[in-house]
Amino acid sequence: MPGSIHGLKVAQAKEKVDEPKTKGNRRFLKAAFDKNERGHMEIQEPEIKSYEILIIKDENFIPDNVCIVTGAGSGIGRAAAIAAAKNQLTVVGFDINEGEAKKTCEMVASHGGKMECIQIDLCDSDAVAEAVEKAASFGQIKYLANIAGLQHIDSVENFPMEKYDLMQKLMLRAPFLLSKLVIPHMKKSKDQIGVIANMSSVHGHICTKNKPVYNITKFGLRGLSQSVSAEGEGKIRSFTISTGFVRTRLALNQIAAQAEQRGITPDEVVEKVMMGNSRVKEMMTPIEVGNMIIFGFSRHANYLIGGDLLFDGGMVLTY
Ligand SMILES: NC(=O)c1ccc[n+]([C@@H]2O[C@H](COP(=O)([O-])OP(=O)(O)OC[C@H]3O[C@@H](n4cnc5c(N)ncnc54)[C@H](O)[C@@H]3O)[C@@H](O)[C@H]2O)c1
Repeated sequence: MPGSIHGLKVAQAKEKVDEPKTKGNRRFLKAAFDKNERGHMEIQEPEIKSYEILIIKDENFIPDNVCIVTGAGSGIGRAAAIAAAKNQLTVVGFDINEGEAKKTCEMVASHGGKMECIQIDLCDSDAVAEAVEKAASFGQIKYLANIAGLQHIDSVENFPMEKYDLMQKLMLRAPFLLSKLVIPHMKKSKDQIGVIANMSSVHGHICTKNKPVYNITKFGLRGLSQSVSAEGEGKIRSFTISTGFVRTRLALNQIAAQAEQRGITPDEVVEKVMMGNSRVKEMMTPIEVGNMIIFGFSRHANYLIGGDLLFDGGMVLTY
């Protein structure tokens, strides 16, 4: 990764000096245990500061070029949208949650960027096709970040098939359909270059229990990125991003179910199950993942063709 990423780390470390001294992510956990009316953990997403965003000079990072971001109403999708807009791209955010997507638009505007949002259920194929055409009316589609997703915790034998179908549609079929629809737009652009990022996970490399469908879709996204890249002749590239746990609602809302199903406390879920095999005991922030996507889109990643950015604190490769 370019040197500026290390610069970012230093800047973040400096800012943390005044924070209360806590072991691991204890302070964060306390916030996580405030529950909402559905009994889910509620968190405040970390606020994204300008200096945390990776800015790259790239001749394709211009307002004429459109970057579609799915799941732009929350977490990693929101951070990716802000990072792409801060890098001069016109962002078109797709999300089922209109209110939250609009909030992302406001955040983008406060960073001086440009973003449109389209309220959409990504499981609806006709709506996806319409949304891509609408996105094309804002400029030249050059980038797609498939980020929207959800989690459901159950064993294979207990897994509800309607949840299987929903996850398959949202997390594998929609990224495939979107790729199918945007590639012709990318090919029509002047330099015929286009890049598709797919948000995988450590669960696209290893399987933990009670997440069978999540695991399957994340492995599948690696197959999708490689398949797109195999046909892209070096111009249409695709890559996956595989992280461990990131501070978003999706990560925190699964703690209660995991605790119940494993018969352990929520604290133990975080310390042993989520972060146990990670050498870094704090969860990543959404903008750290947004920055990986920007790097993958940029000219610095021209040889990232079907590859995977595994940023997991050592979860997969160290024992
Ligand atoms: N948070 C983590 O620890 C983590 C780690 C690795 C990978 N991921 C992956 O990153 C992606 C984003 O996760 P997140 O943590 O930011 O989650 P999140 O819950 O904060 O955001 C998911 C977004 O997807 C949207 N969405 C859900 N269903 C939709 C639908 N049918 N149509 C349109 N939009 C829909 C939601 O409204 C939400 O804005 C997911 O694919 C997830 O699997 C997350």
